[in-house]
Amino acid sequence: ELVEREIVALRDSDIPLVREIATYLLGNGGKRVRPALVALCAQACGYRGTGDVDLGVIVECIHTASLVHDDIVDGAKVRRGQESANRVWGNRLAVLFGDFLYAKSLAMSVALGKLRLVEVLTDATSRLVEGEMLDVIHNGHAELDMDTYMDIIDRKTASLFAGCAQAAAVLADTSPEQEAALAGYGHDVGLAFQLID
Ligand code: FPP
Ligand code: MG
Repeated sequence: ELVEREIVALRDSDIPLVREIATYLLGNGGKRVRPALVALCAQACGYRGTGDVDLGVIVECIHTASLVHDDIVDGAKVRRGQESANRVWGNRLAVLFGDFLYAKSLAMSVALGKLRLVEVLTDATSRLVEGEMLDVIHNGHAELDMDTYMDIIDRKTASLFAGCAQAAAVLADTSPEQEAALAGYGHDVGLAFQLID
């Protein structure tokens, strides 16, 4: 509930169209799997503050930004049961809104005051983009082998899941060993999630 409330607050912009696109994209209940992973991992590490709510919003924004860009890349018409942003507003506004959302998430991660968090999240995002590029490179290759497939989903999906779990550990000031364990756990959940998807 707190994550949802903060997501609503994010729509605040003095440009009406930005508010409109934000309401359209952030309002229609995605599954919020990544914020849930953040909250559960933070709790597992004994975290007692409220930064896990912000972190949940941050990862949901990174994820939503990536879907907006992915729909442009894929020329998709539908996302989460409604017309995709590129379909409603065109590629130019959609790509810029994705940038806006990503910039917001970065600013929020800086505000949490831990450089390591920004490092973990930007590292995950770099891998996410690499995964999407590999996806484009290999798209339509029916002879794709298992190793290449696993490498793609590792970067495209597992990277952000790993980042969610690891960032939660960073937030909770765990030991490096616990941080690595949580990252590994998030990674495996991400691989499983993408295999099913
Ligand atoms: C969905 O793939 C796409 C992703 C999981 C990642 C997309 C990543 C980017 C576009 C990189 C840009 C990142 C940012 C932060 C701006 P899919 O097409 O297989 O799944 P779908 O059926 O849900 O579209
Ligand atoms: Mg797609």
